[in-house]
Order: sequence, then C-alpha cells, then structure tokens
Amino acid sequence: METTTPAPFTVIPNRRPASDEERWLAMEDPVFGKVFTDHMARATWRDGEGWTQRRIVPLAPLPMHPGAAVLHYAQQAFEGLKAYRHEDDSIHLFRPERNAARLAASARRLALPELPAEDFLASLEELVTIDQQWVPGTPGASLYLRPLLIATEPSLLVQPSDEVDYLVTASPVGAYIATGDQGASIWVSKGYHRANAGGTGEAKTAGNYAASMLPQLEAKAHGCQQVLFLDAKEDRYVEELGGMNLMAVRADGTVLTPSLSGTILPGVTRDSILTLLKDSGRTVEERDIELAEILEGIEAGEIVELFACGTAAVVTAIGRLVSDDFDVTVGDGSPGPVGAEMVGALTDIQYGRAEDTHGWLHRVV
Ligand SMILES: Cc1ncc(COP(=O)(O)O)c(C=O)c1O
Repeated sequence: METTTPAPFTVIPNRRPASDEERWLAMEDPVFGKVFTDHMARATWRDGEGWTQRRIVPLAPLPMHPGAAVLHYAQQAFEGLKAYRHEDDSIHLFRPERNAARLAASARRLALPELPAEDFLASLEELVTIDQQWVPGTPGASLYLRPLLIATEPSLLVQPSDEVDYLVTASPVGAYIATGDQGASIWVSKGYHRANAGGTGEAKTAGNYAASMLPQLEAKAHGCQQVLFLDAKEDRYVEELGGMNLMAVRADGTVLTPSLSGTILPGVTRDSILTLLKDSGRTVEERDIELAEILEGIEAGEIVELFACGTAAVVTAIGRLVSDDFDVTVGDGSPGPVGAEMVGALTDIQYGRAEDTHGWLHRVV
C-alpha cells in the first residue's frame, strides 16, 4: 500500500551559499525568474511506495535520464505563488492552500500522483525559512516560488510514469513595472487557440505554455505585449491571456469575467479580485463573454476598462485590443481606476498594510 502520510522535510543546508555581497548584487534588479536562491525542495514518488525523501537540498542541476518521460511527453504540472516580506520582517505566503489544490487538480489531469496539501505547505515553509534572506524587502518585490511535478521514469511508452519528482525553486523578483500612462496592447489571436474542451486548459501544465509561444511572437510582430485567446470551438468567446485572467468593467461599475468553463486556468488572483470587488459593493458577472460584446461595448462607451490579472504582475491594464480586422482603444488607452484600486487593495493585504479579513495570509517566518 502507498504511504502518503506527510512527513517533515529534512534540511541539508548548502555549504556554499551565496555571500551577502553576491546575494545583494543578484537581488538588486532581478530579471523575472532568472535569479535563484541557495536551496530547493524535493520529494520523490514511486508507484507502490508513495511520496518519500522529502528534503530541502542545495540548489543544483538535476541528473536526468534522457529517456525521462517528461522530456518526451510533457507529463508535468507546476504552480506559481509568492512570499511577501512585511514591514516587521515577518514573511507570508498568499493563499498557498489554493495553489496546493490547483496542483493536485493539474496532477489528476496529467495522470500524475497528487502531492498532499500538507507536504506542499511544508515544502514552501521550509524552503522560505532557510532562504529567508532572499525575500526582498523593497516595495513591490517578493520571492516567487515555483513548485513542479515531473515524470522521471526512463520510458518511451506513452503511459503514466511510475517515478515522479516534486521540486520547488525560489526566485527573488522585483516590483512589476507597468506600461506607464498607457495600458498594454493586446493581440487577439484568431488563428491559434490555447485550449479546447476536454483538453488541458484548466491545468497548469507545460504544453499549454509551449503552445502559446508562437501566438506570443505573432503578438510581438504586431506591436502587442500579450495575447488574448478565444474559445477554440466557436472562435467567439474571450477566454484568457497567456498567463493572466481577463476582467472587463462596464460603465455602471459591473465587472465581467469569463466563467471557469474548463478551458481557462482558475487564477488565485482572479478569485481574490472577485472577492474584493464584491467586498466593495460591486456586482460581478462570471459568464461566457463574446468578443463582439467587448468590442461593441468599448465602441459604445459601455465597457470602460479592461485589465488582466495574475500572480506575477498582479494587474495589467489593457489599453488596446488589436487583431487583423480591428484596432480598438479602451477609453483613452490609459489604465482605469478599478484595476488600480484592485492592485492597491490586493497588495495592501499581501504586504500587511491592510487587515487580512479573509484569512488569506499564511505566516512562514
Ligand atoms: C494561463 C494563466 N491564466 C491565469 C493565470 C493567473 O493565475 P494566478 O492568479 O493564480 O497567478 C496564470 C498564472 O499562473 C496563467 O498561467
């Protein structure tokens, strides 16, 4: 029988951690996801044995068999969340139990073993604790955490791997710099789709992101920063961006967002913002939204603001929607007040400047 009883993560400290000077230099102006801390978390799963070898070890390359299933068939799932330093130097994760549940849901879709939520939380707590000096204290900066499940069995058979590794790396990231006084220009992809019903759109798994890179290049070629994907069945409904969920604000203050229909990622930021919007007395509508409703609404002045949201950038204001057959500016193209209010409300909670009335913070240090 498989043992999945959570157990402590054994800490094997890095004997050659970065010096204070090396760390300060690395953290001065980090490019997102390019700087890593001294340690990583690991655990191993074997069919019939369950999860074992929970450990925090020095960050190092992985020796991997070239036949490892993940390299061939992308049997993997991952997560992304942040640790925030408060003014009193305590360190907090934001709603990590949501990421634990989403990783488990992604694992089920990818036929990977589920990691118990207790193990997920323990791995993050231990890693952030040992690498706490890597959690930036500068405004808007944080430690980005990247949990990952990968199929490691050397096997070219298209079948679920009987060996899986769980890994967490940590990366200090700076404050996200918004596009200034103009919102982002977004390319609405007509030729490419991100996900189809019954596919892997609502899982956080590598293939979705690999498939979004070519449309991202197409967006760049048209002077846009990001891609907005439409539903694959009818090419009619807005879904999400490559790494963010979408929200639209109507002139009457109602906020619309695509419902979780199975083809988009259930964002933690999306859920948090919907809660904060309701807290502030606004009406929110989660439903299918036609692209035509957005375009006609913008033209008629009924849709007054568009923004995207996700862990990395919190909120990205959208100033323009572009495609082969339209180029529409939202209002005067500048970031709107609702998105700005949501960045403020959310980051005030994350950084401990506002009361955490929903119990979203999980103190680590
Ligand atoms: C495709 C996609 N949609 C939405 C999101 C936003 O999710 P979250 O708010 O949990 O970061 C992400 C980011 O992880 C994403 O990759």
